[in-house]
Amino acid sequence: MTTQSTELQYLPSDLKRELLPQHVAVIMDGNGRWAKRQGLPRIMGHQRGVDALKDLLRCCKDWGIKALTVYAFSTENWKRPQKEVDFVMSLIQGFLRQELREMLEKNVQIQFVGNLQALPTAVQEEISRSMAATKNNRSIKFTVATNYGGRQEILQACRVIAQKVQEGILRPDEISEELFENHLYTAGTADPDLLIRTSGEMRLSNFLLWQMAYGEIYITDTLWPDFDRREFYRALCAYQQRERRFGKV
Ligand code: FPP
Repeated sequence: MTTQSTELQYLPSDLKRELLPQHVAVIMDGNGRWAKRQGLPRIMGHQRGVDALKDLLRCCKDWGIKALTVYAFSTENWKRPQKEVDFVMSLIQGFLRQELREMLEKNVQIQFVGNLQALPTAVQEEISRSMAATKNNRSIKFTVATNYGGRQEILQACRVIAQKVQEGILRPDEISEELFENHLYTAGTADPDLLIRTSGEMRLSNFLLWQMAYGEIYITDTLWPDFDRREFYRALCAYQQRERRFGKV
């Protein structure tokens, strides 16, 4: 691990444990800009982005956050240069190979959500292996959205539900929010309480459209490779100042 902070290893004392988000989601944006500022090729930004991600996962585990979901690759990201797409795929594969042992030791459950069948076979195999090996781990659920799109996720849920109605397995009036959620890729994981987006963009970019109905959003200008425990601490401080009303007064 290249970027592990010895600083802030434990939950800072001014954060209230009972007000921590249970589930944090992250749009890891700004890798390309980070690389450009350093005079490096874009892929080096992704490489450093993986280091930032590794430390955030460790930090969530150290501080007692129960779920972390990150946007690794969107359905739109295939439009990037082939070399960059290949590099991101190799980073995912490398991450799974290198981190599986530590995830097992630290009781981390990893899951991937998205249209995984379109990924290179070797990546799919690594994903299946790591999901199966960690499926009973319970200290933190780490979800990696890969070839993921929120609209596509909602559409595939609609198709499955429509099929069940057509086959007479379901009646239309049985389609509740709960039933719908159980057909999303994220079935079984509570909605995020907090979404962090780096690099200053103020958009959801097709990430967790259904799940973010009531989630708080925190945006920082910091570019993803520079997002460290101190930045995460700031995001959590801001979150703890918010009053969550869920539509009530
Ligand atoms: C956004 O930066 C980042 C991405 C599209 C890819 C991020 C993916 C990783 C870091 C791989 C991580 C996943 C695992 C499990 C290892 P950008 O390229 O859009 O930056 P820019 O907006 O500055 O160009």
